[in-house]
Amino acid sequence: MEDLPFITPPQAVASILSETEQMNFGMASEPLVGALLCTLAASKPGGRFLELGTGTGVATAWLLSGMDLHSTLVSVDIDEKAQNVAARALGHDPRLQLVNSGAIEYLATQPAESFDLVFADALPGKYEGLADALAVVRPGGFWVGDDLLPQPNWPEGHAAKVPNLLEQLAQNADFSVLPMVWATGVVLAVKRRIS
Ligand SMILES: C[S@@+](CC[C@H](N)C(=O)[O-])C[C@H]1O[C@@H](n2cnc3c(N)ncnc32)[C@H](O)[C@@H]1O
Repeated sequence: MEDLPFITPPQAVASILSETEQMNFGMASEPLVGALLCTLAASKPGGRFLELGTGTGVATAWLLSGMDLHSTLVSVDIDEKAQNVAARALGHDPRLQLVNSGAIEYLATQPAESFDLVFADALPGKYEGLADALAVVRPGGFWVGDDLLPQPNWPEGHAAKVPNLLEQLAQNADFSVLPMVWATGVVLAVKRRIS
């Protein structure tokens, strides 16, 4: 079975990737991860979605492409320059709100169980502030973590944090967890309604 020949990136991705390359931003999501996000977004009509780490907007474009017209997406990043690429390519979409903020600071302002999907694509919301990111997921909703396989931009000592993250998720009875040794290394967690 092949996968990439059957995956078509949203139209905006080409111009985003061209600007991404020009500015030497090396952390853009790859198509397999984008297609996963698009598919998950399509499962939540009228959904409310959150991306932590807009970057230049590659995954933002994939999420938007899966969402219906009644869904909304908030995408948060501290790097205004990278986020401006997303604003130029996707800012016309009324379903999208780009927020220039730290992820932890943004999460602190959000009510519990207020998002149908959280794409944790920055270190905060994944390695720091994991509990805050998990708290905003609605029952039946997804928390998706990416870049769990070795990445060229990982800081020194980062690799040791991955098993720790997976252990924390595996021990969290509120979530059903699927670590995937696939693409850039993804973990998919679904919040369960326990009671
Ligand atoms: C892996 S990149 C995001 C890639 C993007 N989601 C995509 O699909 O192309 C991680 C992003 O997290 C952002 N970031 C780093 N620290 C952050 C923080 N404390 N709060 C919010 N964003 C942060 C970086 O500026 C960077 O753009």
